[in-house]
Amino acid sequence: MTDLFTKFDPLIQQRADLLATGVTDPFSLVMEKVLSPTVAICNGRETILLGTYNYMGMTFDEDVIAAGKDALDKFGSGTTGSRVLNGTYQGHKEVEEALKDFYAMDHAMVFSTGYQANLGIISTIAGKGDYVILDIDSHASIYDGCKMGDAEIVAFRHNDVEALEKRLKRLPAEAGKLVVLEGVYSMLGDVAPLNEMVRIAKENGAMVLVDEAHSMGFIGEHGRGVAEAQGVINDVDFIIGTFSKSVGTVGGFCVSNHPKFEILRLVCRPYVFTASLPPSVVATAATSIRKLMHGSNKRAHLWENSKTLHKGLKDRGFTLGTDEPQSAIIAVIMPDLERGAAMWEALLEEGLYVNLARPPATPAGMTLLRCSLCAEHSSDQVGEILSRFERAGKRVGIIG
Ligand SMILES: Cc1ncc(COP(=O)(O)O)c(C=O)c1O
Repeated sequence: MTDLFTKFDPLIQQRADLLATGVTDPFSLVMEKVLSPTVAICNGRETILLGTYNYMGMTFDEDVIAAGKDALDKFGSGTTGSRVLNGTYQGHKEVEEALKDFYAMDHAMVFSTGYQANLGIISTIAGKGDYVILDIDSHASIYDGCKMGDAEIVAFRHNDVEALEKRLKRLPAEAGKLVVLEGVYSMLGDVAPLNEMVRIAKENGAMVLVDEAHSMGFIGEHGRGVAEAQGVINDVDFIIGTFSKSVGTVGGFCVSNHPKFEILRLVCRPYVFTASLPPSVVATAATSIRKLMHGSNKRAHLWENSKTLHKGLKDRGFTLGTDEPQSAIIAVIMPDLERGAAMWEALLEEGLYVNLARPPATPAGMTLLRCSLCAEHSSDQVGEILSRFERAGKRVGIIG
């Protein structure tokens, strides 16, 4: 018998080598208690959360929690069925209405996760003989959506407008084309030049899908994302999003103005062949989305937090993923995995949780400490975060 696990040996070795240095496993932390969107108890210690993507801090909003409890009481703990059979409840329709209102779009389709939304939409609309043209740094769910479909995949250099144009011009004029972009790229927290890219895609006869997972609720006048902020939302054919970040629960969606959009409910396998979200989840999501429509004060405070953290880290000598703050994600570049893991642990000992990201998930083989800010972080907490970074950075020798 060939052991099918042999292929994992290099990763098993890398993990063993890392743990042999005495570092805590950065990928098995337990949140023992969660006190608020910004504070939890980890390893018995009160810890500031700076790696949750809970951008708008909706997880502890009292209206959101009340809506979830009410739905749990009235509709039970789960639907036990697909959206196309017994799994469409009133709440699923209500959250789709909330999404249509939020984005001012004609159609909204809710999936059980954002991962499944990308998987389903990309694999279903781009078929045999079509092309998907995507940024090389696209999220795993975009790549997996491509793998699941039958279209040809063409990747272009990250955020490179000319490279996108060159790739498009080489494709047959009559072929179906889907350009897939993200508003904010989650590894470095940088924003795409959507205004130019959407124009080029349209000039070359392509449809455009934008994944706004990391911008919903925060970027753009109404929180609709980078496409709104850059004035091209009406030219985007499909927006993909998630409930697992600003909305503060779990789920995914696609919104669109395409007149034939509703047919996807019958042909999109990751929508049809899986159970729908529990009633409590869709109720919390609908309440959260409607509240995010009036979130401009929170957005302003989140921008302040992002600017303060970016400047503070830069002034203290850390190397960051972007020259300026572009989103609520700030990536701190580490020299290698060993020192990245040591810094991650030193921060945890200081009472600060960030995400450690390493290849292959990261661009250019980088090890990153990804910080994601929350609108509920107080200015005092951001000051405290900076002090903890400084102490840990000196201890590990990342800064002088
Ligand atoms: C850009 C992007 N798209 C999609 C997803 C998937 O979202 P979900 O957590 O809802 O599956 C993520 C989550 O990490 C993401 O970063």
